[in-house]
Amino acid sequence: MPATKPKKNIEGRTDLYSVRNSSIQGKGVFAKKRIRKGTRLIEYRGERIPVGEADERYEDDENKTHHHTFLFSVDERTVIDAAVNGNNARWINHSCDPNCEAVEEEGRIWIEAKKNIQPGQELSYNYQLDREGRFEKKFWQLYECRCGASNCRKIMLARPKPPKRKKTTKNRVVKKK
Ligand SMILES: C[S@@+](CC[C@H](N)C(=O)[O-])C[C@H]1O[C@@H](n2cnc3c(N)ncnc32)[C@H](O)[C@@H]1O
Ligand SMILES: [Zn+2]
Repeated sequence: MPATKPKKNIEGRTDLYSVRNSSIQGKGVFAKKRIRKGTRLIEYRGERIPVGEADERYEDDENKTHHHTFLFSVDERTVIDAAVNGNNARWINHSCDPNCEAVEEEGRIWIEAKKNIQPGQELSYNYQLDREGRFEKKFWQLYECRCGASNCRKIMLARPKPPKRKKTTKNRVVKKK
């Protein structure tokens, strides 16, 4: 019999987490066991596409009341679209007081515990969503944060940066490391 290659576990530490409905939004990822600070849990996987292609794929929808994205921005050129070939990392919600962080290593994104996490706690990281262009009033509804943390900023967008000199034409939302 030909030797079969062991399957790579793209879902990471499934011994430590499970996916179920979240009170924050939709599905979420929860600790099954105590997770120690520094534990690498899962890679944020999906199709790697150029920024321009992500812009074309996901144009603004004026009818949407709550923004939803599976995109993660790796750098200024590349975006991971977890809607295509994504793994369980795409279910991890945002929190303003996160217990995990996204770590970039040679162009790959890993989700790691930044605190000790107790069984049953929901895993989260700060999306630092970056919206190019003017910070409009409607964003408070569109990007409303429901993380429930005592320091919740009530919005998933990162604080607006001072305007760059570089000209941009699109209002793109990306998740940053
Ligand atoms: C990568 S998905 C996370 C999984 C999501 N709960 C689901 O079931 O698809 C990211 C989206 O989840 C929602 N989300 C994540 N964290 C949130 C939060 N703190 N408050 C409100 N919505 C959140 C937003 O719609 C966001 O664009
Ligand atoms: Zn919040």
